[in-house]
Amino acid sequence: MHGDELLDFDIIKEDFPILGIKSHGKPFVYLDSAATSQKPKQVINAISDYYSTYNANINRGVYEISERATDAYINSKMKVAGFINAKGIEEIVYVRNATEAINLVALTWGDQNIKSGDHILISEMEHHSNIVPWQLLAKRKGAVLDYVKLSNDRATLDMASLKENLENRPKLVSITHVSNVLGTINDVKRITRMAHKNGAAVLIDGAQSAPHMKVDVSDIDCEFFAFSGHKMLGPTGIGVLYGKEAALDSMPPLFGGGDMIKAVDKQSATWNDLPWKFEAGTSNIEGGIGLGVAVDYLNSIGMDRIEAHESELTEYALRELSDFDGINVFGPGVKDLRVKTGVISFAIKGVHPHDIATIFDNEGVAIRAGHHCAMPLVVSLAPEKAVSRMSFYIYNGKTDIDRAIGAIKTVRRIFKLD
Ligand SMILES: Cc1ncc(COP(=O)(O)O)c(C=O)c1O
Repeated sequence: MHGDELLDFDIIKEDFPILGIKSHGKPFVYLDSAATSQKPKQVINAISDYYSTYNANINRGVYEISERATDAYINSKMKVAGFINAKGIEEIVYVRNATEAINLVALTWGDQNIKSGDHILISEMEHHSNIVPWQLLAKRKGAVLDYVKLSNDRATLDMASLKENLENRPKLVSITHVSNVLGTINDVKRITRMAHKNGAAVLIDGAQSAPHMKVDVSDIDCEFFAFSGHKMLGPTGIGVLYGKEAALDSMPPLFGGGDMIKAVDKQSATWNDLPWKFEAGTSNIEGGIGLGVAVDYLNSIGMDRIEAHESELTEYALRELSDFDGINVFGPGVKDLRVKTGVISFAIKGVHPHDIATIFDNEGVAIRAGHHCAMPLVVSLAPEKAVSRMSFYIYNGKTDIDRAIGAIKTVRRIFKLD
């Protein structure tokens, strides 16, 4: 047991029932939070409480439990707005996940603003969610999709490449805040300032940042910011598109149906106020409520403390990994923890990443191996076109990393690397 940790993870762990299970007969260690986070009992109970005591459709009922459900749903938007320092709920559109948020922008703002020959700028470290919607848009419109290159150490964005690409005056710059493979934290405030100077609107993919650090969309000044509830202790099926009010106001709705209208006649309709214009049909009410409780949970610990805790774990893990020969760690190293979150992708020479993940699994430690939905990046990093990845969250402690290191020793023993 390590007594020097910033968060009392033993107490936090108690809130996560799943962390008490056994896997392959061993106490379960979950190191795959970059894929999805586990859920505290506060979130699980809030969803159960909604279904058990006030399940009703929102925004329409005049009876008590419908008003209660409506209040809870709107309240969750207020919490999310506060969490990322948006102006108010008019800037918070609920969607299914970060992927849907980015597609919504591509299909509405993109359709309206991108024309043949226009440039759209993304980077070489994007998740498929922030690549494919722009490929589709570029194909529809005859636009050009450009990429900011990675620096020579393959760990950060090459700012000279950003500058060069901005000379094409792209209409949109869409960049990830944190890489889900490298853990790299991009300076999105600076990127946004540079993009704006060159006349571009900016979308930030916050899927890997919102769960792990203080995000301030007003300070970043981006037009759009996308993230998923399920990666930040909330349920699956709820995500957020933040949009500046002026940007959202200027966009046509994506879906038509109930709730997104003010009035409908036989041939036409007028749109509801923000954010409802973008939320057609019955909302994911349990998802919204669960996400609000997840935000409360994160706030009760404090994003600064969460960031510091994960940084400490990352430093510990990187130092432990450096004790082995033949392990290649991707992304910023121990000297650059300022620009790295708790995502560690690695390769062990001579062992396929899937074999590594399988051996970890046999040891009761869940990690992920593959292209991590970032094929252009991962193909450029590893000849196997796959890497193993462990990722940390508030419920992980150094003892979990010790278990991972134990699993690496098992890999080395099985593959006779010692
Ligand atoms: C950087 C990044 N962007 C976008 C996504 C997509 O998130 P979701 O699958 O919840 O839409 C992920 C998911 O792993 C991600 O890591």
